[in-house]
Formats: sequence, C-alpha cells, structure tokens
Amino acid sequence: MASLDTLTLPLDQTSSADLAAVGLEYRRIDADGEGFRPFQRAVARGFLGGESTDDEAAHARKTLRTRRLTGVFDAAGSEPEVPVGTIDSWASTLTTSPGRTADLWSISAVTVAPTHRRRGIARAMIGGELRTAADAGFALAGLTVTEATIYGRWGFSPAAWASDVVVDTRRARWTGPATPGRLDFVPRDAVVAHVRAIHERVRVSRPGAVPGWDGRWRAIAGAAPGDKEAEKVRAVVYRDVDGVERGILIYTLDENDDYSSHVLNVRSLFADGDDAYAALWRFAIEHDLVGTVKAWLQAPVPPVQWMVSDRRAVTATLTDHHWLRVLDVAGALSSRAYAAPLDAIVRVDDPLGFADGTWAVRIDEAREAVVSPADADAPVDVQLTVGALGSLLLGGVRASELAAAGLVRGDAGAIAAIDAAFAPAMTPLLDIWY
Ligand SMILES: CC(C)(COP(=O)(O)OP(=O)(O)OC[C@H]1O[C@@H](n2cnc3c(N)ncnc32)[C@H](O)[C@@H]1OP(=O)(O)O)[C@@H](O)C(=O)NCCC(=O)NCCS
Repeated sequence: MASLDTLTLPLDQTSSADLAAVGLEYRRIDADGEGFRPFQRAVARGFLGGESTDDEAAHARKTLRTRRLTGVFDAAGSEPEVPVGTIDSWASTLTTSPGRTADLWSISAVTVAPTHRRRGIARAMIGGELRTAADAGFALAGLTVTEATIYGRWGFSPAAWASDVVVDTRRARWTGPATPGRLDFVPRDAVVAHVRAIHERVRVSRPGAVPGWDGRWRAIAGAAPGDKEAEKVRAVVYRDVDGVERGILIYTLDENDDYSSHVLNVRSLFADGDDAYAALWRFAIEHDLVGTVKAWLQAPVPPVQWMVSDRRAVTATLTDHHWLRVLDVAGALSSRAYAAPLDAIVRVDDPLGFADGTWAVRIDEAREAVVSPADADAPVDVQLTVGALGSLLLGGVRASELAAAGLVRGDAGAIAAIDAAFAPAMTPLLDIWY
C-alpha cells in the first residue's frame, strides 16, 4: 500500500468543520500550483528558518509533489495566501523486524504560525491526518519530532531511539576488527546514487527504519541548493572482497585553531554488515589531522564503543527519534516477526478511539501474531496506553520497563511473556530525519 496515492484521499471533514467554526479554512495545496511558495514560506518560518531562494523552492517542490500538503488559512490576515498552519504526509514503509514491513502514514512539516499558536490548529491538523490514515487502512502513523512534549497527547510515542556520538580520537586507538574489503572515495556527482542504493539495502533489515527519498539524499550529499557546507562534503564507500558496496560514509571536516585537531562531522554512515561499519568508523577515527569525530543518528548503544582502546573516548547521547502511533492493533502487531510465543488478553486505552479495545493477542509457534477482539468476559492480563503499545511494537523498550513507569499494568508473568515475545532481532533505529 506504500504506493497508495494519498493525494487523492478526501480532506477530513471533522477538522474542516472544527476550523471553519473558528473562522479558519482547511485546504489542500497543490505543489505545482500558486499555493506552493506560500506553503513553503510558512513551513520555513514555522521551523525558524529564512526565506528560500527560487532554487531551494524548486528543489523542495520535487519532494513535496509526491506528498499530501494541507494548510490552514486565515482569510482575515494580512497575507491570507500564507497558511497559518501546515502539515504534509505520505505513504511510507516501516521496517518492523528484519525483512518485514508495515505501511506507515508519515507526517512532517507540522507548523503553526506564532501569531496563531495554541488555538487548536495543530490539534485539528493532526486529528485530520490520523482519521485520514485510519480510513485509508493504515495501521501506523509516524513522525520525528522537534520537542518530546507535543505528540503524546495524540497517541504517538517513541519506538526507536538514536545516539549522537562524539569520539575523542586522541584517546581512541583502534582495537576493532580488521576488515578485508577496501575503501574508495566517491566522485561528488555520484554520491546521491551511492547513498540511495546502500541505504535501501540497510533499511530493510533494521527495525525502525524507513526509506529515504531523493531530496533527503541530495541534502546529505551536499547536492541541495543553499547548503553552505556543500563544497566540503566528501564520501567514501566500503566494498567487500567481492566488490559489492556495503557501506558509505559522508562527512565534512572543520578546521580548528590547532590544525591537527580538525572535527570530522559524519553526515551519514550507513553500513550493510559489520565489516562495513568497522571499516568506515576506523577511517573516521584514524583520519589524519582529526581530533574529534561527531556523528548523529547512530545506534542507541553504538558498537564503535567496543572498537577502541578507551571506551570513554566515545560518548553516546541517547534521544528518542522515531515516534509511532498505532491506529489498528491487529494490523500493527501482525506486521512483525516475534521471538517467542504469547497468549494474552491485552486492554489498550486510546482516548482517540482508533486502537481502543480489549484484544486477544496470540503469537503462534511460527512467531506470527494473530489478534482479534477479546470475548467480553475474558480476564485482562495486561492493560496499557496506546502510546505504550507503539513504544513496545519494535522491541526498543521492554514491557517490564514501561511497567516500572506505570504505563503497562498487569500480571507479572504476562508482562515477562511480552518481554520475551517482543525482544527484537536487532535494536530498532531510524537513521534519517523525516
Ligand atoms: C508545535 C505546534 C505545531 C503546536 O501548534 P498549536 O496550534 O499551537 O497547538 P494546539 O493549539 O493545537 O495545541 C494542542 C495541545 O498541544 C499543546 N501543545 C502545543 N504545542 C506544544 C508544545 N510545543 N509543547 C507542549 N505542549 C504543546 C497545547 O498546549 C494543547 O494542549 P491541550 O491538549 O492540553 O489543550 C506549534 O507550536 C509550532 O509550530 N511550533 C514550532 C514548529 C514545531 O516545533 N513543529 C513540530 C514539528 S515536529
């Protein structure tokens, strides 16, 4: 269903009516129409950015043409063509366990003009997206967030975490594995093609990952207009002994007062396999004239910590990154493979109604989930919020950990059984922003 054309889906009538009641208009925007530049201006202003150039707008249009753009308009304003609320969405694919995926209603560009904040505009826009996604049959919605305080009220909750990594290379002598392949620089004009191909292979095995898109790869590769660092971007690929490209490191170097202490900023490091990961991290850490390596969106507990002589030379700061919202319990739970069988009656509390109910969750001997509404008199084993269910889905947090926080309640044996069943084959990670 990720190929579903979300552009043809109707505008949510509840949000339309709610906004009309306060004198605002809820309207779709055509990326090829006159409304596009004002929409884009509003998004840039909402995220505290500057005005975009014609080149930047043309570049953004290529991505946004495939997305569902919706705005909220105030006809009484001094610039009525510029929306006071913006949101975009598209059908994507979430890796739920290695080789398994779920359709994901991805949301981005959520902004409300500072002149119109806290009047319920975001509430109308998010509600509209969730209802549209659920009506179209999506079991999950997802987003990445500027603030952790916003989306919990709509049932979103972190499901994959990421680390910002800083390595003091003076303390970090390489003790990791030697790798048999080779590293080569990639010509600048070829970086986009290489990163796209490698990420496509990486993301299908990593729970929490989603596909990137051309605009994302151009931005990372320094090939998007307006990138002040574009000239500094360099990339190396790792090829295995069979000549297959297994990983890519895209980076810039910043000079320091001390010329021997440059900072190597990792824009992306995508590795299809352990050898590629080790080879690319070794390249970064052993780079001459570099004192610090900084990398974002790395694994929550990055393996590079075990590949250097002094593990405290590597600091990893964990942050929530991929927020999911379960819209359909059966659809979400059946989208992944599990580690152990389970038979539990699970009560999900969802104030917005989408996932609310009591569910018989059975994970069979083949480690597949079968979920159906529970009988009315079935005793509940475990009760949890829809947010907690979203956080558990990929196995990035354990039910027993959420139980300690009071977000999951119930029988200790049933909670332990959920821990065992939901244990991930691989720690979830989302390695890009969207
Ligand atoms: C975040 C933002 C979209 C909220 O828009 P808004 O129209 O003011 O939000 P609403 O009026 O619909 O608020 C709905 C609820 O969310 C709460 N809320 C809104 N923004 C919040 C924030 N940043 N932190 C905590 N709570 C917030 C409101 O208090 C309200 O709470 P209630 O349910 O108790 O009444 C807006 O402040 C904004 O554009 N921020 C800058 C860009 C940004 O960070 N966007 C998010 C991208 S992921």
